[in-house]
Amino acid sequence: MTLQIKSLEQYNDVYKRSIEDPEGFWAEQGETFKWRKKWDKTLEWDFRKPDIKWFLGGKLNITENCLDRHLETRGDQVAIIWEPNNPDAPVKKYTYKELHAEVCKAANGLKAMGIGKGDRVCFYMPMVPELAIGILACARVGAIHSVVFAGFSATALADRIKDATCKVVICSDYNNRGAKNIPVKTVVDEAMTMGCDSIETVLVHRNTGGVVEWNSDLDQWWHEVIDNQSTDCEAEEMDAEDMLFILYTSGSTGKPKGVVHTCGGYMVYTTFSFKNVFQYNDGDIYWCTADIGWITGHSYIVYGPLAAGATTIMFEGIPTYPDAGRFWQVCEKHKVNQFYTAPTAIRALMAKGDQYVEGHDLSDLKTLGSVGEPINEEAWSWYNKKIGKGNCPIVDTWWQTETGGILITPLPNITDTKPCYASYPMPGIQPVLLDSDGNLVEGNNVEGLLAVKFPWPSMLRTTYGDHQRCKNTYFAMFDNHYFTGDGARRDEDGRYRIIGRVDDVINVSGHRMGTAEVENAINEHPNVVESAVVGYPHDIKGQGIYAYVIINQVVEDVDAFRKEVIKVVRREIGPIAKPDIIQIVSGLPKTRSGKIMRRILRKVASSDTSNLGDVSTLLNPEVVQEIIDNALV
Ligand code: WTA
Repeated sequence: MTLQIKSLEQYNDVYKRSIEDPEGFWAEQGETFKWRKKWDKTLEWDFRKPDIKWFLGGKLNITENCLDRHLETRGDQVAIIWEPNNPDAPVKKYTYKELHAEVCKAANGLKAMGIGKGDRVCFYMPMVPELAIGILACARVGAIHSVVFAGFSATALADRIKDATCKVVICSDYNNRGAKNIPVKTVVDEAMTMGCDSIETVLVHRNTGGVVEWNSDLDQWWHEVIDNQSTDCEAEEMDAEDMLFILYTSGSTGKPKGVVHTCGGYMVYTTFSFKNVFQYNDGDIYWCTADIGWITGHSYIVYGPLAAGATTIMFEGIPTYPDAGRFWQVCEKHKVNQFYTAPTAIRALMAKGDQYVEGHDLSDLKTLGSVGEPINEEAWSWYNKKIGKGNCPIVDTWWQTETGGILITPLPNITDTKPCYASYPMPGIQPVLLDSDGNLVEGNNVEGLLAVKFPWPSMLRTTYGDHQRCKNTYFAMFDNHYFTGDGARRDEDGRYRIIGRVDDVINVSGHRMGTAEVENAINEHPNVVESAVVGYPHDIKGQGIYAYVIINQVVEDVDAFRKEVIKVVRREIGPIAKPDIIQIVSGLPKTRSGKIMRRILRKVASSDTSNLGDVSTLLNPEVVQEIIDNALV
C-alpha cells in the first residue's frame, strides 16, 4: 500500500529519510505497485545531459496498476463518476470492472486501426468518459498519447500533430460547453488540411449526435471501431522508461514544446502525491475540476486517482452554467470529500456573490485544493470561509507540466497552511533558491529563483524530438539543477511562496502562455509590423494579456482593427490567448542591441510608471512617454 503520512512528526521523518536515501525511499514506494519484472536499479541521473532514469529495467503497464490490480479488491467500486454539462442529463458511473472492460475494448480498437507500441495518438476531445478511456487504451497498447486541449485552434492542433507525427487523432463530433455547442470535428477537419500527413485515421466519437462532414478516406466512427471489440486485452509490457505521454506546454521562446513523461516514475509519483496531498481514503469521493487537456487532469483526474483505487469525478461543464452555483451543486450531489480547482475559478465565483454557495450542503468536504497560479489572499480566505466553512485545509499545490506531479504543498491536517504559501516540499523534493548567478540563497526570509537540485520520479525526461531544447530550457540556466522558471520566497519558517514566472511566460486563468507565441500570432495580421505582449494584473484571470502593436497603415476604426487582431490570435492559437488590451504604438522601447525592453512595457501595463529606471540608454527613449500617455489601463 502507498505510504500515507499521518502526522507532522511522520512528515518530518519521511522527508528526512527521502533526502538522505532517495533511492531507498522511492524503491519502497515502487514496491507497492504491480510490476511484470522488478527494476534492476532505482535511479541513474545526470542533469547536465540531462539523462534521468528511474526504476531501470523494470517492466510494467500502468493500466494494470490503474485497473487490473483493483479488480479483485474493488472491482465493483466506482472508479469514474461522469457529471454531464447539463445538470439534468444522466450521470454516468464506471466501476473499476466496467472501466477495465471499456479500456480493453478501446485498446483492441486501437490495435485494429494498426496502433501499437510507440505510436503517437492525438486526442482533441471534450471532457467525456471516452477521453479517459481513450488515453488509458493508448497506455494499454503502449501507444503514446498527446492530448490537445479542445480550446486550441486548428493551427495549434496541426502544429502539435505534426511535431509528434501522430498516426491517429481522436475527436468528438461536438462539445457541450455551458450553453454552447462547439463543433470539434470541423476543427480537426481544418487541421487535416494543414499538412498533417502522418494521420492515417480520424476516429470520431459521437457525443452530441450533431451533423458532421465525413471524409471517407480518413474518418471512422468510435462506436464502429470499438463497440464490438472484446473486453479482454492483454496489456503491452512496457519498460519503466518507455514514453507514456507527450503534453505540449508554452515556454519563453518559440512554439510550445512536447514535455515527455515515462511510465514507471510518473506512476509512482502521481499515486504517492495523490494519496498524501489529498489524504484520500477508501470510500472518499474526489473531484478535480481541471480539463484532461492539461497536466492537472492527466495526473490528478486519471492516473494518480485510478492507480490509488480512488473514485474520481470527471466534469464536462463549466463553473458558471447554468449558474455560478454549479460547482457547489455538484459537490452536494456527489458528496464530494476532496475538491481541487484553480484560483481563477474561485475568483470568478466569488465575484458572482455568496448567494450561489448558500443553500448547498458542503458538509462532506474535507480538503480543498488550489493549482495553476498564485492564489491571492482574498480568494484564499473566501475559499476557506465560504466553501470550507473554516474546517477544510487548503492545499495550495505548486507544480508544473514538467514536474508531472505536485512538488510543494501543505499536507492537510499535517502541516500548517498560510494564505499565498504553497509551503513545504513533498518527500523526495529538494527545492533551492538561487540568485541570477546561480549562487545558493541560504537561510530564511529570502527570495530567489526556484530550482530543484535532485531528481524525482515524475520529472520530465525530454522534450519530444528535441532533447537539446529540454537541456537549454531547464538544465542550462544553472549547473546541475532543474530550473522551474518561477521566482519564490522562503519565509521565516521555511515555507515557500511562489511569486510567479521570471521568464516570458504569462499565466492567464491558470493557462500558461508564451508571450512570443502570442506575438507571433498577432504578427500574422497583415497590418501589424511588430508587437510586444506582456502580462498585467487581472482581477479574475490573475494575469491578462496586454499587447502593444506597431501598425503599417493608419486605421480608421481602431475597434474594428482590434477585433481583427483578436480573430487572428483565435485562429493561430485559440480563444485562451486573445489579448485583453491592444494598444497601438509608434515604436517599442528597444536596447541598442535591438531587444525589446519588456520591463518598461510590464510596468506601463501594471500602471506602475513611477520608477521606470534609466531609459536614456534606449535606442528610442522618446517612445516611452508616448506609450505611457496612451496607456489603456
Ligand atoms: C504556476 C500547472 C503559484 C507556476 C500544474 C508554474 C503556480 C506554472 C501554482 C505551471 C501555485 C502552478 N502557486 N503558481 N500553487 N501552481 N503555478 O505547467 O508559475 O500549466 O511554473 O502546470 O503555473 O503551469 P502548468
